[in-house]
Amino acid sequence: MKFVRIYLVMKDLKEYISELRDKIDIVDVVSKYVRLKKTGRNFVGLCPFHEEKTPSFVVSPEKQIFHCFGCGASGDVIKFLMRIEDIDFKTAVTELAKEAGMPLPKFSAPTKDNTEEKNKLKETMKTALEFFKSKLNAEVVSYLENRGVKQSSIERFSLGYAPKNGNEFIAYMHKKNIPDDLMEKAGLVRRNEEGVLHSYFRNRVMIPIFNLRGEVVAFGGRIFGNGEPKYLNSPDTELFTKGNLLYPINFAKEGIRKEKSALVTEGYFDALILQQEGITNAVCSMGTSFTDAQAKLIKRFAETVYFLYDDDAAGVKGAERAVEVCSKRSLSVKIAVPFEGLDPDEIILRYGREKIQNMIKEAKDPLVFIAEAEIKKEGNTPQGRAKVIQKLLEVVKGIANKTEAYEYLKEISRMFDTDMSVLIDQYNSLKTAYGRRRKREFLPAKISKITAAERFLTQAVLQKPETLSVIEEKIDVEEFFDEEYLDIFRRAKEDIENGIMPDPKNWSNLTENELSIATELMLKDEMLINERAIMQTLENLKKDLFLRSRALEAFNEFKETGNLEKLKEYNEILRELKGR
Ligand code: UTP
Ligand code: MN
Repeated sequence: MKFVRIYLVMKDLKEYISELRDKIDIVDVVSKYVRLKKTGRNFVGLCPFHEEKTPSFVVSPEKQIFHCFGCGASGDVIKFLMRIEDIDFKTAVTELAKEAGMPLPKFSAPTKDNTEEKNKLKETMKTALEFFKSKLNAEVVSYLENRGVKQSSIERFSLGYAPKNGNEFIAYMHKKNIPDDLMEKAGLVRRNEEGVLHSYFRNRVMIPIFNLRGEVVAFGGRIFGNGEPKYLNSPDTELFTKGNLLYPINFAKEGIRKEKSALVTEGYFDALILQQEGITNAVCSMGTSFTDAQAKLIKRFAETVYFLYDDDAAGVKGAERAVEVCSKRSLSVKIAVPFEGLDPDEIILRYGREKIQNMIKEAKDPLVFIAEAEIKKEGNTPQGRAKVIQKLLEVVKGIANKTEAYEYLKEISRMFDTDMSVLIDQYNSLKTAYGRRRKREFLPAKISKITAAERFLTQAVLQKPETLSVIEEKIDVEEFFDEEYLDIFRRAKEDIENGIMPDPKNWSNLTENELSIATELMLKDEMLINERAIMQTLENLKKDLFLRSRALEAFNEFKETGNLEKLKEYNEILRELKGR
């Protein structure tokens, strides 16, 4: 008999997970969803995560990982279950634990008080919602109707009204036996210096914000009539963190899944009216700029985000932000071109659903969108274009993934018919001006050759730990060019130094991309890793790294002094780098 775990703290969790992985065979689990065929040491089949006709989905019983060479999906058995069933980590682990006959994990150690407190807060919010709903008067209803909100939507979205006189609210809550401190913790009241309670929302149309499960966790309140601020949102509470949710995600999640995309607007009423009119994947970010948590939230249901903003200025800002945030989560992004300065709610009410659907169909890549909007502003002259290019490079600067950044540079090069090497130089100087700790700029010659070497050496340490010392003797791995490979290499090294086989399954905080690379390398043919190949690779890489640093030096000197000889030298070295 195993002892029963009451809860898992982080350290225990690690142990628990590895025990679980030992008891479950990934091949058994995957076989329930994918027809697998044994080939050599692995199993292959058609990838369940993307459409394909020829199998590129590989499962390794030895390493207990899967990897799709087509779409890059990869991970361990837990990851597989999470993705295929669209469930979170905890649920997946619990499912597998049941199957393995292990005592079920109880995640985190919620002190009883904490859940109890949260429940009380939820109860408080529910009571407040009832109050606001009951205060919806004819005047407010007619305001809503004038905005195109139907009676059925008022009910579906539980819209309400907070009266001018805040004491009414407090009296109601007291009558319902809700103590002051709960109202305060729920962000519904404020205490002034004299200690007197004031209702937070007054004379506002109340829009309840629901979590994924449809529980009200916050409110947005629009001023009824004129006044500042136009919208007031609940402060952060134990139930609600601004920027973690999208409105109304409880309704939209199904639509997002079905449409395989989310449509992000700026305003509450945009999202609400779009929902009402049948755009079921519409949400709004509630006045914050789009956050990483929101990207993550969408990524649970879909792979694409459309942004539908009110005007060009907002669109450009949104697009810049979207590139930065979404590239990290591998969400693809499109920006809809704003229409006559109208808000999406006005557009759909005036021109119908097709208009919005067309805008989505014609939505642009963020860079194209920014470029066009900025050209309009700066003018289509050589100076104007130069300014716009500079702006686009600033955007690319924010992209963490080097390969993706490179693709974006290629796009700019196409759009403006500009030489790639010029763009790369400009990009590099931006990067350095930005004051990065280490210089890891692009050089055009980098892409294929040096990367291939880094890739090979990373595969080597992953599969044959004994190669680590050989590699480290010859080169300084910290000079690695690609952050992904460097990161994987470092983690593999850490495992090896701790006396264990490198195992990406156990690495925390790997990016999706890194995990994909790591599992792919784990699965690659080990026969390739032999002493000769490693020595050869190291020798070549050493030369290339040396050339690269010389090229950089020459280039930097040219930048400082303007000495054209240095530029020539730089170009010559590059040619040599590419040529060999
Ligand atoms: P907008 O100012 O564009 O308003 O704010 P709107 O949604 O078009 O407002 P209506 O149509 O006049 O009612 C867009 C969103 O930014 C947030 C709200 O979520 C709003 O819906 N916002 C705006 C705030 O949080 N506070 C504000 O004071 C203003
Ligand atoms: Mn509006």
